[in-house]
Amino acid sequence: MDQEKDKYREILCIGAGYVGGPTMAAIADKCPGYNVTVADIDEKRIAAWNSDTLPIYEPGLDAIVKKTRGHNLFFTTDIPAAIKKCGIIFVSVNTPTKTFGDGAGKAADLQYWEKTARAIIEYADDDKIVVEKSTLPVRAAEAMSRILQSNTKGLNFEVLSNPEFMAEGSAVSDLENPDRVLVGAMQTRSGIEAQKKIVAIYANWVPKKKILSTNVWSSELSKLVANAMLAQRISSINSISAICEKTDADVNEVSKAVGMDNRIGPKFLKAGVGFGGSCFKKDILNLVYLCDHYGLDEVARYWEQVVLLNDYQNRRFVKNIILNMFNTVAGKKIALFGFAFKADTGDTRESPAIYIGKMLLEERAELNIFDPKALENAKKELKDTEGKIEYFEDPYECAENTHAIALLTDWKEFADYDYKRIFDSMAKPAFIFDGRNMLDHKKLFKIGFNVFPVGSEPMKHL
Ligand code: UDX
Ligand code: ADP
Repeated sequence: MDQEKDKYREILCIGAGYVGGPTMAAIADKCPGYNVTVADIDEKRIAAWNSDTLPIYEPGLDAIVKKTRGHNLFFTTDIPAAIKKCGIIFVSVNTPTKTFGDGAGKAADLQYWEKTARAIIEYADDDKIVVEKSTLPVRAAEAMSRILQSNTKGLNFEVLSNPEFMAEGSAVSDLENPDRVLVGAMQTRSGIEAQKKIVAIYANWVPKKKILSTNVWSSELSKLVANAMLAQRISSINSISAICEKTDADVNEVSKAVGMDNRIGPKFLKAGVGFGGSCFKKDILNLVYLCDHYGLDEVARYWEQVVLLNDYQNRRFVKNIILNMFNTVAGKKIALFGFAFKADTGDTRESPAIYIGKMLLEERAELNIFDPKALENAKKELKDTEGKIEYFEDPYECAENTHAIALLTDWKEFADYDYKRIFDSMAKPAFIFDGRNMLDHKKLFKIGFNVFPVGSEPMKHL
């Protein structure tokens, strides 16, 4: 194999987080003909990827990492050497929402991206294909291309967009069987050549008709729009849950009836405490920023409302707790069942539990927190928050002597607990606020709980 061909069999991913780690493990697993290196500046994170305890929890991930690590999957902090060696560089560093300056609270903070681009310029000795994997604002690839082309070594960097659509908790199966893979490239001869090389990687396991080759801006925008539309469905059904609570309608019945329309479909219509996660809010705010930038005020306000409604749903949940616990939670103990933003992950970024927990603490409630996987992250999220918080490894101990349970994450195991035992150990009257509508409410009511679902009539003994 000649050297040129060889180099495009060497893949580097800069950023070993929730996106980079699982995606590269899947590529290594499906493409034995490629060597995949994942690099990060965070030494602890890389050490964890090289250990038996991976830095993130994802069902099925341990098995594929075990199978490929040391064969064609490598984790390193030696970014310069990895840049030199590899012809294809995926970039999946973090791109949080800016917290300062122009666009604060909306635009993406691209400092990590730019630092990565500068590292590529500094250490590259030959041409590279650079692939954006992090979600970035539309036209980021163009900006990146300009930075990379400013190199004085006469090198060519082709910047492509290949957004990741996997969801946390199902990352491995989403990666193994994606609905589609998007590869966006500049429509120049070298852009199209590079696009073919990235398509060839995915063609190892993804059917050709599911791999879409587009221009770079369509690819970037599609990622933002997919997340915005998913989040919009959740805000839509959550807005209806508020109407249901004022009437005799049940949001679960409405959701089922509406979702059975083939044109609408049943997914992402589950009412609850609101959406969380690192993507939805950030991507919508990015879209809003973009619309504002182009003077599309009506469009910006339309999408912004999806986020505002989500905040309203968090607040409504807390208000409902306070109202039903005789207008005060001060000095009362409340057990939070779940802190992760969704089930099957330890991730707490933008979790509704953060906002709900903080609002309850401001009302002087005391919190007992249990989560099967997210306890360490919960501690970090609430580290500087004033108030009385205790963390528990066991749900039964967590609920003991509390006045109420607020269920905030849809962990399946929550439905299997012995709620009679839990009820007996709680202060009375005992309340349960099912923020995910996943428990057997009639059964809980029979046990003695006052039960408050989202979007349907409460069951009260009082
Ligand atoms: C999302 C997108 O699904 C994925 O394609 C993209 O790559 C990254 O962002 P993720 O944030 O991991 O993935 O989780 P997702 O399953 O989409 O859930 C997001 C939030 O919405 C969670 O807080 C979840 O609990 C909530 N949700 C989801 C609801 O409240 N109701 C629903 O019906 C579905
Ligand atoms: P995501 O959910 O998008 O994967 P994460 O925060 O989980 O985001 O991961 C991003 C990773 O990128 C982190 O491990 C962080 O240390 C890494 N990172 C940030 N900046 C750089 C950089 N300049 N070089 C290498 N890695 C970086």
